[in-house]
Amino acid sequence: MAPTIRPRRLRSTPALRRLVAETTLAPQDLVLPMFVADGIDAPREISSMPGVYQHTFDSLRTAADDAVRAGVGGLMLFGVPAPDDKDAVGSGADDDEGVLNRALRTLSDDLGDSTVLMADTCLDEFTDHGHCGVVDGRGRVDNDATLERYVSMSLAQARAGAHLLGPSGMMDGQVAAIRAGLDAEGFTDTGILAYAAKYASAFYGPFREAVGSSLQGDRRTYQQDAANRIEAMREIRLDIEEGADLVMVKPAMSYLDIVRDAAEIADVPVAAYQISGEYSMITAAAERGWIDRDAAALESLTSIKRAGALIILSYFATEVATRLR
Ligand code: PBG
Repeated sequence: MAPTIRPRRLRSTPALRRLVAETTLAPQDLVLPMFVADGIDAPREISSMPGVYQHTFDSLRTAADDAVRAGVGGLMLFGVPAPDDKDAVGSGADDDEGVLNRALRTLSDDLGDSTVLMADTCLDEFTDHGHCGVVDGRGRVDNDATLERYVSMSLAQARAGAHLLGPSGMMDGQVAAIRAGLDAEGFTDTGILAYAAKYASAFYGPFREAVGSSLQGDRRTYQQDAANRIEAMREIRLDIEEGADLVMVKPAMSYLDIVRDAAEIADVPVAAYQISGEYSMITAAAERGWIDRDAAALESLTSIKRAGALIILSYFATEVATRLR
């Protein structure tokens, strides 16, 4: 009855478990996504994401400072324009006075190179129809017309001081177009964090509230089908060939196999995005007393790292980084 081989031996004290831990999470692994809104005079908590805010410029600066002090690896900014400022082509996206570009300039002035400033490079926050691109006469998202808008948006974000651009619209050729556009204007040091394998996910739900999205319908003609794995490998390879400096898989928790595959094929750093709905699920269950928020946050992030992500975007970034310190 008595086994000779006892794996439990290495689990018997906290010190032993720490000694043999294969994966450790560090503050710099985590990137905090942040929302900055135009035309509000106090930060607004996003009701489906308790603890996450649409920031004013003032509260954005404070929260960014807190995150940097906690040691996070970077910040990913999303702009929330006033509803009246949205239009069919997302003019606010490449306007130097648009909310996101102003916020990037503000944080770039405050923080300089002390953190990595990233920007969501996508039109959906800025279009009145809520799609990630421009729509043709038949209501379809027009890939190539959208690329021109992405290039213009990228140049505005580079001028505003973003270190890394995060094209998240899943248009074909977006990385190559943005790279060429940046290089032609001398922004050779502005990098691209490509949302390479981004799936059409029900877990984006709370994000739609976070950015006041006006989307009717879905994004299934451009984001990937949850059923597909090989397709993700193709998207990742293409983005690397087109010049992506980093590639991202999104969402994270339901796609850990894709994160693992990405880590195996990519010769650039792999990031994963623990998205709004993933944050909200943990937060809601913890509010009901069903799970332990701190433990669940840490476990989920450790699992994403174990799957192969070097970098994790997460709304838990500041609180977890603070605890890891
Ligand atoms: C597109 C974008 C989205 C997210 C990041 N960039 C929304 C979408 O694709 O529908 C989702 C992030 C999250 O859910 O936390 N601009």
